[in-house]
Amino acid sequence: MGLIGPGFVAAHHVDAVRRLGDVDVVAIAGSSQQSADRKAREYKVERAYGDYHALIADPDVQVIHNTTPNYLHLPVTLAALAAGKHVISDKPLAVNPAEGRTLRDAAMAAKVAHVVTFNYRGNPLVQQARGMIARGESGAVSFVHGHYLQDWMSDPNVYSWRSDPSKGGTSSALGDIGSHWCDLAEHVSGLKITSVLADITTVIPVRYSAGGSAEAFSTKTTGEREPVTVEAEDLASVLLRFENGSKGCFSVGQVLPGHKNDLVLEVNGLTTSLKWKQEQQNELWIGHSKQPNAVMAKDPSLVSPDALRYVHLPGGHQESWADAFCNLIRDAYAWIAEGGAPEVKPTMLPTFNDGYRSTCLVDAMLRSHAAGGVWQQVEFAAAGE
Ligand SMILES: NC(=O)c1ccc[n+]([C@@H]2O[C@H](COP(=O)([O-])OP(=O)(O)OC[C@H]3O[C@@H](n4cnc5c(N)ncnc54)[C@H](O)[C@@H]3O)[C@@H](O)[C@H]2O)c1
Repeated sequence: MGLIGPGFVAAHHVDAVRRLGDVDVVAIAGSSQQSADRKAREYKVERAYGDYHALIADPDVQVIHNTTPNYLHLPVTLAALAAGKHVISDKPLAVNPAEGRTLRDAAMAAKVAHVVTFNYRGNPLVQQARGMIARGESGAVSFVHGHYLQDWMSDPNVYSWRSDPSKGGTSSALGDIGSHWCDLAEHVSGLKITSVLADITTVIPVRYSAGGSAEAFSTKTTGEREPVTVEAEDLASVLLRFENGSKGCFSVGQVLPGHKNDLVLEVNGLTTSLKWKQEQQNELWIGHSKQPNAVMAKDPSLVSPDALRYVHLPGGHQESWADAFCNLIRDAYAWIAEGGAPEVKPTMLPTFNDGYRSTCLVDAMLRSHAAGGVWQQVEFAAAGE
């Protein structure tokens, strides 16, 4: 594999790929030769390119991991697809639905594996919940709700490409972490969101930039700084309607002190409720109305067969964010080993179709808010439409 965009999340891509044991990390490409060389030394990768086109042209690279800032997802991924390479893109797939659809269609036409790292799908108990709902063990779903809250942008001195619409996209918090929550909500419930009503806020409208590209989650706040007006949202609440008539709601925010990576998803069926908290990811809460509630541990002897392949340790041995990320990468390479043929894609694996869908959801939320807080349909074009 070759990786383009060696920043915060890239290290976890490299780590996950190395854990597979049969994939070589051949090269990385950075924004300059100097930064690529530095990162190549840090990751212990032999080849470093200062231009991503050179990495894509490297004949030893068969799979491209795209972990660049959002605005580069389109050109980098299109170039990789044009070269016939399999692509694993980090989320969001693109900054708007038009670009997302272009990438989905290009990937399908290229007949290669195309994966978006909606990595929370890789958690065993997420798959447990999904399986229980799909098998009807919760009864018909009536309500899907939760939140994804963080605090790393609470300090106005935190400024990165994420707050710059020319690099991060028009949306910030919704595209960055709302995309994860909505993907998980649809994946676990098995239901598509059809319309949304969004209320969007920029709690910190002026941030202080140190110039250059500050790495994500960096809270380094020293040095000379320039004020920058920020319009992208850092807080949002959204009402949801799903295709079966069930309802939902969620909030996202990145300026909420004390919330680190606080993703919670609850799905209420008519007989059983299920709740999964990312920060306590080794437990699944199972709610009943006519018997005591239960907490299921991530234990290979307890989970159902479809979730078992994502469990790697006995009960009580905590598995984590990186393990779930690796589960997704393992499925991605299983698909790549089969040439990316659609009929053999592992069920859990999110594709560019899911990535494009996510851009449509965020777009509907932005439209809803811009229209003064009114319901908007999700406009998504199925493949081939
Ligand atoms: N799946 C997840 O949970 C998760 C977590 C964090 C970030 N992400 C996504 O991953 C992507 C990167 O985010 P990040 O937080 O790692 O950002 P980051 O700013 O830490 O890293 C981006 C890297 O890309 C490099 N880059 C910029 N221009 C480049 C170019 N022309 N060629 C090659 N490299 C270039 C930057 O120098 C930097 O090293 C974003 O799309 C983000 O949404 C996903």
